Amino acid sequence: MSTHEAANQALVIAIDGPAAAGKGTLARRLAAALGLPYLDTGLLYRAVGRRVLDLGADPAEPDAAAAAARSLVPEDLARGDLRGPAADAAAASVASIPAVRAALLEFQRGFATASGAVLDGRDIGTVIFPDAKVKLFVTATLPARARRRWAELAGKGTEVPLARVEADMRARDAMDAARLAAPLRPAADAVCLDTTALDPDAVFAQAMAAVRAARP
Ligand code: DC
Repeated sequence: MSTHEAANQALVIAIDGPAAAGKGTLARRLAAALGLPYLDTGLLYRAVGRRVLDLGADPAEPDAAAAAARSLVPEDLARGDLRGPAADAAAASVASIPAVRAALLEFQRGFATASGAVLDGRDIGTVIFPDAKVKLFVTATLPARARRRWAELAGKGTEVPLARVEADMRARDAMDAARLAAPLRPAADAVCLDTTALDPDAVFAQAMAAVRAARP
């Protein structure tokens, strides 16, 4: 094992927060800077939702969704149809089912066991890795997040009114925060980063300061 690997052993960085807050951008940069693998855990819920839709079943139906979660394979995360309104809605539905979350728990823990990892999601610091050395809660106002998502969609040629993007995001935020199974909330010991008025470099600098503080 190299010195670099040894120093990173078991370093888990848990990043949680609502959609379009900047979690993914930050997580990828931290993972690259620290030589850690990265897992976007939203993809797990998206892939489960897609599997249920493929079978013509209802993503809100617990037995169908739990069976899809148990049969998930890593290749499912590379599917090209995990983004977009249908996948968003299916993911939010399956994510509120406790048996789905239970089936995905070991996958997420196993991902970080060997060498540590950066994971982003909604319950990484509260449920999946409550003992993570570094926990970040990344957030921004709803209008700021909606505008980012809208610009991202426009960049891909998808013209959707900003008001519609904001309304969809508000509804998904409410589902994530109100569900009984692992609702979105900051861990008590998370460092909160509000990215509303920060560019990605500033967010990265603040996150690295939190990592250094946790690993003197
Ligand atoms: O981050 P995202 O938009 O790709 O997440 C897709 C859905 O899955 C969203 O409704 C939140 C949910 N999710 C979750 O409940 N727990 C996670 N760790 C990651 C995502």
